[in-house]
Amino acid sequence: MADLMEIISKRKSVRKYSQKHIPDGDLRKVLEAGRLAPSWMNVQSWKFILIKSQENKDLISELSIGQQQVKHADALIVCIADTNAWDEAKITDIQNPALNPALQCENGIVIRSLEQVIYPVSYMMLEAESLGISSCIIGAFGSDVTEILPDVHERVRKTLNLSEGQIISTIIALGYEEEHKETVKTRKSFDEVVALEKLGQKF
Ligand SMILES: Cc1cc2nc3c(=O)[nH]c(=O)nc-3n(C[C@H](O)[C@H](O)[C@H](O)COP(=O)(O)O)c2cc1C
Repeated sequence: MADLMEIISKRKSVRKYSQKHIPDGDLRKVLEAGRLAPSWMNVQSWKFILIKSQENKDLISELSIGQQQVKHADALIVCIADTNAWDEAKITDIQNPALNPALQCENGIVIRSLEQVIYPVSYMMLEAESLGISSCIIGAFGSDVTEILPDVHERVRKTLNLSEGQIISTIIALGYEEEHKETVKTRKSFDEVVALEKLGQKF
């Protein structure tokens, strides 16, 4: 098994996929990695919808402003932030809203719910990479909040059977890289993003 740091370093966003299908067992492992992610008070305020049909990939691609990698991915995972999960968890022993997002205002719950999904998304992306499956996170898509493609957003919500309070947070496109290309990771330097004790002080 590859070292985790190796998987992190090697992973890159891939937008062109081969025709090869991902075995269901591997898709299940990817989803399982998401299920095991941590969350605030273990609320697990997420749902993951696996999309394999071309019809639904086309619809999600339309919502993603026509991004072709969404259309041509072998599978998509639509990650849902479920704002209802905090109430459903029925955590009554923590009465301080700073410690219990269920007691926060609607915006607070939405922000916290979206925040939780980052962890399973990262886990799923890395598990996919460890299985030799490439991915691309898709954050550019329409919604009623951004008022971009609200009608398509409504169609997607209906198709995916989303309830009130369930928000599309992230889409993960998955597939095998069409043709392996070496890429250089362009990132800010270690010193630009890491400080010791205070900004401006080197580690
Ligand atoms: C929250 C988020 C949203 C993103 N949205 C898109 C997107 O809509 N379309 C796309 O092609 N890539 C998208 N990306 C991929 C980034 O462009 C990519 O991760 C970044 O350029 C770094 O490249 P790398 O992933 O190859 O290391 C997104 C990444 C993140 C984390």
